[in-house]
Amino acid sequence: MTKKYFQIQGVDVDELATTFGTPLYIYDAAKIVQQIETLKKSFSSVKLKIKYAAKALTNISILKLIKNEGVGVDVVSVFEARLALHAGYLPSQIMFTPNGVAFGEIKQGVELGLTINVDNLPTLEKFGKQYGSAYPCGLRLNPHIMAGGNLKISTGHSNSKFGISVQHLPLILETVKKYQIKIQSLHIHTGSEINEVEVYLKMAALLFDTANHFPDLKSIDFGGGFKVKYKEGDKITDMPRLGSELSKAFNEYCKKENRDLELWIEPGKFIVSEAGHLIARANVVKETPTIIFVGVDTGLNHLIRPMMYDAYHEIINGSNLEGEKKTYNIVGNICETDTLGADRELNIVNEGDLIVIKNAGAYGFSMASNYNSRPRPAEVLIENGEARLIRQRDSFDDLLKGQM
Ligand code: LLP
Repeated sequence: MTKKYFQIQGVDVDELATTFGTPLYIYDAAKIVQQIETLKKSFSSVKLKIKYAAKALTNISILKLIKNEGVGVDVVSVFEARLALHAGYLPSQIMFTPNGVAFGEIKQGVELGLTINVDNLPTLEKFGKQYGSAYPCGLRLNPHIMAGGNLKISTGHSNSKFGISVQHLPLILETVKKYQIKIQSLHIHTGSEINEVEVYLKMAALLFDTANHFPDLKSIDFGGGFKVKYKEGDKITDMPRLGSELSKAFNEYCKKENRDLELWIEPGKFIVSEAGHLIARANVVKETPTIIFVGVDTGLNHLIRPMMYDAYHEIINGSNLEGEKKTYNIVGNICETDTLGADRELNIVNEGDLIVIKNAGAYGFSMASNYNSRPRPAEVLIENGEARLIRQRDSFDDLLKGQM
């Protein structure tokens, strides 16, 4: 009997590991497309624009795939914008929402023709002085709403560095009036992993109140932050419900105020998280008096979320799908405590087995580094059952690149 391996879109992880080596990021194109479809369907009663938060996964093949689904892009740096342009996006499809950048970078964004979101008053002042009414912009507001369960990834609360406080509306209006700035969008992103529909409805009420001050508005942007399933029992964002309730409130507002606006969202995780798997090889199974460690050929250099946010990523033994289980700590090979998963029940792990880490599509490779002088993994995209390399594994030359 042939051995059974975990499969991604019908392809054995063993085949993928043999062809491309490990550690390896694998992305399932069909899952990305499915997630986009869910968004479009959930918001079908409004004029929706999706701006994919590219920071979640910036590989240009992924950007191209997402672009082909009619989805725009949200970027946070001029280089990220240039990647999107490289992938074929038009400047008009790219929204640039930087924070804490020098005005020079905003100017570069304007020169590229991007849609700019301003996130602080000093920048708004400079923007007005420089462009007046000649180049419209958007405003990123801080709503003073604490959302999601993890403070490290919550961005809309009053102590967060992001956005212009809603309490500073009079100052915003003063600056806008002084320079005749055309404000074409209002934006709030309250953070990541928010499952409460109510948070978005609260944002909506606040944005609608604020919107009445801005006659040039074309869109209202509710950010991203939709929660997907990381583990069994996770409470996730009910997308059909969110879509229907937010769209209803939005349409009512537009009707009441006789305005023709677009509703924008900018999800990262929702689009790519579940599509990604990180495949690693078990290098060593090590028993201590208290714990059995599985040491794998990846670590916090390739997936920093567990150590950075205490994020839970489901881990399975892709080489052994049935039978007895044991409790393991899955750890990386980095000279740090880089626990990828503690106290996990896995089918018995033997040296050489393929360990599969789930939900690795968002903020996996894009936050990876060369720490400990280890190469970043290769990336593979599976489309219609065909796996193809979309980024080579780093080489030793990559470690030397640019050094004198
Ligand atoms: N829009 C803006 C302005 C953002 O800053 C972000 C994420 C998003 C949209 C997309 O959020 P999402 O839908 O992916 O939750 N690296 C962290 C999360 C920080 C995300 C930063 N901004 C993580 O791995 O959980």
